[in-house]
Amino acid sequence: MVGPDCGVSKTKPQIILDCDPGLDDAMAIAVAARHTDLLGITTVAGNVSLQLTTANALTVCEVFDVNVPVHSGAAQPLTGPTVDAAEIHGESGLNGPDHPEHSRSIDGDNAVEFMVETLRANPGAWLVPIGPMTNIAQVIKADPGVLDSVAGISFMGGARTVGNATATAEFNIWGDPEAAAIVIGCGHPNIRMSGLQLTSQFQVHDGFLGRVKAIDTDAARWTHALLDFLLDAVAGLEGFRTSSMHDPVAVLSVTHPELVQAEPRRVDVELAGVHTRGMTVVDQRSRAPEAPNVQVGMTINGGAMADLLLGCLAPEDAS
Ligand code: RIB
Ligand code: CA
Repeated sequence: MVGPDCGVSKTKPQIILDCDPGLDDAMAIAVAARHTDLLGITTVAGNVSLQLTTANALTVCEVFDVNVPVHSGAAQPLTGPTVDAAEIHGESGLNGPDHPEHSRSIDGDNAVEFMVETLRANPGAWLVPIGPMTNIAQVIKADPGVLDSVAGISFMGGARTVGNATATAEFNIWGDPEAAAIVIGCGHPNIRMSGLQLTSQFQVHDGFLGRVKAIDTDAARWTHALLDFLLDAVAGLEGFRTSSMHDPVAVLSVTHPELVQAEPRRVDVELAGVHTRGMTVVDQRSRAPEAPNVQVGMTINGGAMADLLLGCLAPEDAS
């Protein structure tokens, strides 16, 4: 079993980003492209359909000039209905800016096969799921031994207290609770959870948009339109123009672990509850009977993360 990355490596961590673009997924791709050795992007249905999340991944690759393999994955969860979050991300899943033409198509439609092959060929890589974890669960079911090649799993999902999809469930877990239970319960020694109470410490608002507007690049102009749509959508639902920047936190937890303070906790996923299906039950008792299985993010330096994201909107030599 490859041991946990102790965060002192001088080279960029190798990751596979599994996503459902998605406005914040788009920002996570930009951060991963700049700060990781991005081995590939895999897509899953979540915020919108698989067809749209896959097209959106290609769009984001065009905008940020990301030349890595893109493989589509699961179009629906292991069990249960498909979900969507179009009320936040728009019907396209990437509303706001115009979408550039794609200069290429995807590299394959078997994300699970791509991930197994790539992880076995690159021992010490990370899995970073930022949508429903259907693809990751299928990797574990198809080849449990591949986990020995994985440095860690850093996922955006779950909640220590209040959910967003329901009163108790966060969207990514709610989108495929069975898959989340397989991943969180897989026994890997280095699973990191970036849940809602962590990602809410990284807020984008009109002040952040003003800083984006000051960056004279096409990527920054595209991002400004994207995040302006996000703030409008949130204002329409919640009454104020500020939003958690969820997905980049799971990437930055790998690239900049010094920005995250986490605690070992026992985490289980509720599958049967009438009101709690998809809830991540985080045992925060001082004498929890079950051994911890997840490093649960507790606090982040949200300001430093905002600076890092802004840096990704400018050319690398400018930062
Ligand atoms: O709950 C937030 C998560 O759900 C993020 O990954 C966002 O993209 C949506 O998928
Ligand atoms: Ca997402």
